[in-house]
Amino acid sequence: MIDKLSEIETTALESLAPIKDEAALEAWRIANLGRNSALMTVFSDLGKLSKEERPLIGQAANRVKVALEARLTEKMESVKRSALEHSLSTENLDVTLPGRSVRRGRLHPSTQQLRRVLAILGEMGFQVYTSREVETDEFNFQLLNFPPHHPAREMQDSLYVDAAGRGDNPILLRTHTSPGQIHAMREYAAWNPKEPPPIRIALPGMCYRHEQITSRSEVQFNQVEGLAVGKGITFANLKGTLTDFARRMFGQAARVRFRASYFPFTEPSAEMDVECFVCGGKGCSVCKGSGWLEILGSGMVHPVVLENGGYNPRRYTGFAFGMGPERQLMLRYRIDDIRYFLGNDIRFLEQF
Ligand code: DAH
Repeated sequence: MIDKLSEIETTALESLAPIKDEAALEAWRIANLGRNSALMTVFSDLGKLSKEERPLIGQAANRVKVALEARLTEKMESVKRSALEHSLSTENLDVTLPGRSVRRGRLHPSTQQLRRVLAILGEMGFQVYTSREVETDEFNFQLLNFPPHHPAREMQDSLYVDAAGRGDNPILLRTHTSPGQIHAMREYAAWNPKEPPPIRIALPGMCYRHEQITSRSEVQFNQVEGLAVGKGITFANLKGTLTDFARRMFGQAARVRFRASYFPFTEPSAEMDVECFVCGGKGCSVCKGSGWLEILGSGMVHPVVLENGGYNPRRYTGFAFGMGPERQLMLRYRIDDIRYFLGNDIRFLEQF
């Protein structure tokens, strides 16, 4: 048995010597030290030996096992070392290769346009006032002079969050930025209820409508609302401010026109068109032959709305307007499908 052990040792060591890689080393370990190896069989067969032989053979087998394991560890280190030396001597690292450039992100085109609008309004003295996106029917409609069942609600089909048990005052996602007018007026008026301060603010943000999604309508879009309230503000101020805005946005040569319109929260109301900057007013497919592009709704703040905001309509007047940054981008870059804005297609987004 002792002879068999030393034979096991010699054969194992002989087959270890020529090994050069880790895979072969692992195969050697399984063959010589694994559960089914000749050496391990000696251990499992110890029980068959006589009482006298058992400790002798056990010790001898153990010595062989320890010796083989030690040689395996040594060999493992030398195999790793020579693999490293080999790769260092054959693979050159060219440190002069240019690095991979980092792709820089950018702001979403809607955000860029929103900021352009706010920057211009900021220069004109309008401070940003952010308002909530989840509203009650009362703020989104009623205080803006849309009573329940008013037909003007038809244009703003709503996404309701909670209606159960709330009667005429369900909770909804705001369909326009106009409810911010009431929040702002109430907040300003609370500072000095007898003599509320004048207001000049821009209200930006997401609005939501329950729309059939098409190339012209999305369920989600941005608006920027403007509100100016004070003593002696007239329709001439509205026209002057919005004309100036259009020139700053579309160039000093931009021409505008106002058309009478209707909104429940303004009286009188007007829509503003800019002369089509694609065809210069001659008529093209973008302006549908009219030479004009509608860019915003506006009007003098309705007395009921001023009252609801805490401003006495006999002493205060104001004007308001609302516009859509996505719509402006569509006109400016002739984008024919509003779905691109939220489609997450990098090929579209990268162009801005
Ligand atoms: N809230 C209107 C809408 O979403 C836009 C609008 C029109 C806002 C006229 C105004 C305004 O402040 O005066 O259709």
